[in-house]
Amino acid sequence: MDNVALRVSSVTKSYGKRTVLDSLDLTVHKGSFVTLLGSSGSGKSTLFRCITGLDSIDSGRIIAFGGSKSVHELTSTQLCQLRRDIGFVFQQFNLIKRFTAYENVLGACLASTPFWRVAFRNFNKDDRRLALECLDRVEMLSFANTPVLKLSGGQQQRIAVARVLAQKPKLIIADEPVSSLDPLTAASVLKTLKTAARDSNVAVLCSLHQVELAIDVADHIIGIKGGRVQLDLANDPEDHAMGNKITSLYERVIGESAV
Ligand SMILES: Nc1ncnc2c1ncn2[C@@H]1O[C@H](COP(=O)(O)OP(=O)(O)OP(=O)(O)O)[C@@H](O)[C@H]1O
Ligand SMILES: [Mg+2]
Repeated sequence: MDNVALRVSSVTKSYGKRTVLDSLDLTVHKGSFVTLLGSSGSGKSTLFRCITGLDSIDSGRIIAFGGSKSVHELTSTQLCQLRRDIGFVFQQFNLIKRFTAYENVLGACLASTPFWRVAFRNFNKDDRRLALECLDRVEMLSFANTPVLKLSGGQQQRIAVARVLAQKPKLIIADEPVSSLDPLTAASVLKTLKTAARDSNVAVLCSLHQVELAIDVADHIIGIKGGRVQLDLANDPEDHAMGNKITSLYERVIGESAV
């Protein structure tokens, strides 16, 4: 269990008569980058909401960070702690556009900052240093004082990655973080996320639509269809033969190429 950041066991979730997750199993190891592939409506975002306790499950267990309780058995205080340990990156970068890149990243320190410091924008030296370090890790330090609205989509998503790193999470959940970016920028942002997370030994669970992007970065690829895991493969981004095998398997089993 020590090496496991997240274990989802036999999770079933229905909306009315529609079963979205059907006895789904999935494991994310510490420090690993796992991609979740599946067509639109296959239940990726639903799974993420269940993992963070934002949505209930019908049966099964979701254990984060080696705890003894499933997410749905946690008290509200324990759930707050869990959500502090999980960082989110979304498709829409969720940044405050008129604030600078630096201010947005600094905002991630709010959870650990007393209210009066926030009210007077009196962040301590450690927070300021951490924000700058995180901007540096996503190669955006030179844009620290630029308002986010003046940045490109790819640059904004790098700021979103820096912000999530500043939260010091144990697990990052990224729900289609690059789907609004062009393929080259998408690949580059994903690599930045992977490198930054690996350097901090943070696990990543990232949903994507394109198998090609997954093969480029993932240590592990999980494909879901019909609410079940249909593919669960270790990947080596350096091994092109393995990439070709995964692509053809993915197209056969999940039944679609890039969306
Ligand atoms: N709150 C809800 N109430 C009822 N049905 C829902 C709800 N949320 C999601 N669904 C249904 O569950 C299914 C899975 O939705 P979900 O958003 O998890 O898919 P997804 O894999 O994230 O899709 P996409 O790739 O388009 O983001 C869909 O059929 C959706 O209509
Ligand atoms: Mg979704």
